[in-house]
Amino acid sequence: PVLYVLNGPNLNLLGTREPDIYGRETLADVEALCRAAAEGAEVVFRQSNLEGELIDWLHEARDKADAVVLNPAGYGHTSVALHDAIKTLTIPLVECHLSNPAAREPFRHHSYVSPVAAGVVSGFGPFSYDLAVRAALRLARARAP
Ligand code: DQA
Repeated sequence: PVLYVLNGPNLNLLGTREPDIYGRETLADVEALCRAAAEGAEVVFRQSNLEGELIDWLHEARDKADAVVLNPAGYGHTSVALHDAIKTLTIPLVECHLSNPAAREPFRHHSYVSPVAAGVVSGFGPFSYDLAVRAALRLARARAP
């Protein structure tokens, strides 16, 4: 199976950005962890600060991927367009967060992504990605064994 792991705004700064919340590991470290968790499945790992680019990648995933892991970052709390794009997918999408947004400021408590995600993993730092990758691949394999 092919897994798209898509990362939203500011995650390029992982490692230096608010390390007390997001830790010292970089996005390259997270990418390596995802590839290891995928156990040989093909992983397409990308990050963008642009909402439209994330939407274009979700459209691309419709033809090219068997599952998606998405950390929408701040756009998860704001983006109807991301919600609509995910709704067009027929493959499973797992929402993933390093922190636990439900335990943070009230403006992080709502997600436009969660209602259209197969499931959500949050609060475990980079290990959230490990769990999300395994869950997404399991869902993909269950659909097309
Ligand atoms: C985040 C949580 C979001 O609330 C925040 O806007 C981010 C990162 C996380 O991975 O914990 O940018 O998605």
